Amino acid sequence: MKLRVAIGADHGGFDLKQQLVVRLKDTFDIMDVGAGSFDPDDDYPDFVVPVAGAVASGEVQRGVIICGSGVGACIAANKVPGVRAGTCHDTYSAHQGVEHDDMNILCLGARVIGIEVATELVTAFLGARFSGEERHRRRLAKVLDIERRALGSG
Ligand code: RB5
Repeated sequence: MKLRVAIGADHGGFDLKQQLVVRLKDTFDIMDVGAGSFDPDDDYPDFVVPVAGAVASGEVQRGVIICGSGVGACIAANKVPGVRAGTCHDTYSAHQGVEHDDMNILCLGARVIGIEVATELVTAFLGARFSGEERHRRRLAKVLDIERRALGSG
């Protein structure tokens, strides 16, 4: 069964998203939440919400969000409970963020990297699995505790 992946981008990441979808669609089950066309006035939170929601609800296993820098997307995605997003422009972080931190959304900056590096990053991210090692589970539990306390439910 193919890994189900949600992908979204604002105008800053639109072209890179289009190229990535072409490269990924045979290997992964891609849910493209938009933008569906280039709109220089669109806003990245409008594409973060559907990707983050799909990841948080379990509708998809992973998410990829692209904006100009990868920063705004990451800030917005991490506001959604259950999301663990990281902006990674090196392959080590793209897989280690999953293996150690259970990162479930990768954010990319299309004004920082091109399609070849983006493809390698997404491949490293989607190919990685949480190690489940005790020290990483312990640290993740502490992170989830921060989220619970912020939500006022623990
Ligand atoms: C849009 O121009 C740009 O600000 C946005 O894509 C992103 O880089 C924000 O972090």
